[in-house]
Amino acid sequence: MQTDDTLERELTDDAVEEVLSNGALTVVGRLATASNASFFGQVELDGVALPCIYKPVAGERPLWDFPDGTLAGRERAARLVSTAGGWHVVPPTVLRDGRFGPGMCQRWIDVESQFALVDIVDSGAAEPGWIAVLEAEDASGRDVLLVHADDERLRDMALFDAVINNADRKGGHVLLAPGAAAGSDRQAGRLFGCDHGVSFHVDTKLRTVLWGWAGEPLRPRDVQLLSGLGDALGNGLEDELASWLTSAELVALRRRVDVLLNTAKMPVPDGSWPAIPWPAF
Ligand SMILES: Nc1ncnc2c1ncn2[C@@H]1O[C@H](COP(=O)(O)OP(=O)(O)O)[C@@H](O)[C@H]1O
Ligand SMILES: [Mg+2]
Repeated sequence: MQTDDTLERELTDDAVEEVLSNGALTVVGRLATASNASFFGQVELDGVALPCIYKPVAGERPLWDFPDGTLAGRERAARLVSTAGGWHVVPPTVLRDGRFGPGMCQRWIDVESQFALVDIVDSGAAEPGWIAVLEAEDASGRDVLLVHADDERLRDMALFDAVINNADRKGGHVLLAPGAAAGSDRQAGRLFGCDHGVSFHVDTKLRTVLWGWAGEPLRPRDVQLLSGLGDALGNGLEDELASWLTSAELVALRRRVDVLLNTAKMPVPDGSWPAIPWPAF
């Protein structure tokens, strides 16, 4: 069994999805911090083994505000939007059968743990290059700030979340993979997001720690991403998404893309819903 990095790097995303879909899935352990039944495991196909997370539909807690579809299906939908729109921020994600029944299976991303892009710091300690999004008191009564890096990759993710209407972008759902110069600095490495099961609602539910660009004009790159997604939706993506989303959710997705393009600004929290997920990590 080859698990060496070189081999993994040579795999295209399609090849990874092939291994995720058709490989033998072994469950290694349950993720203790997860709110649903989520398992760390491994998929193996033709001598290629990859770490993965497997979330069986049977382990999903029912949510009153998401009566239709499944968390697993919306995670697959988020992957499709991320890829077709050009964000490439969601790791390869498929739906497949497993030990606890059908569920989602996503490539596990080993993170660069010493370089968080979202953090909690002492009030007044925000450094240049960081944006403060919330002032709060921690459990011991200390004044703290929720901050995130002023980072283009995070900004791409913030736009992606606005598009999919992500209701749960916690700090722990932001994954920084080691870059080519592994361990060298925060700028290296690729950014991924996980846990997109509570996205695509028809009502605005954007709940995120990435508010640092709220109300700012879209960059040319944002317009490109949004237009690309708009085109993709009309070219087959909508049909593919219809397996996982309701037609009302598809209309709302298209509307969010149009509204973003028309206002040409990053969304702002409007105060009518909790804009920061809790806990924030
Ligand atoms: N693809 C992934 N790669 C690396 N870590 C992941 C991945 N998916 C989830 N995790 C980690 O596992 C934790 C729990 O998974 P999550 O998807 O948030 O499950 P739940 O839906 O139960 O909250 C996440 O907060 C994150 O730290
Ligand atoms: Mg989670």
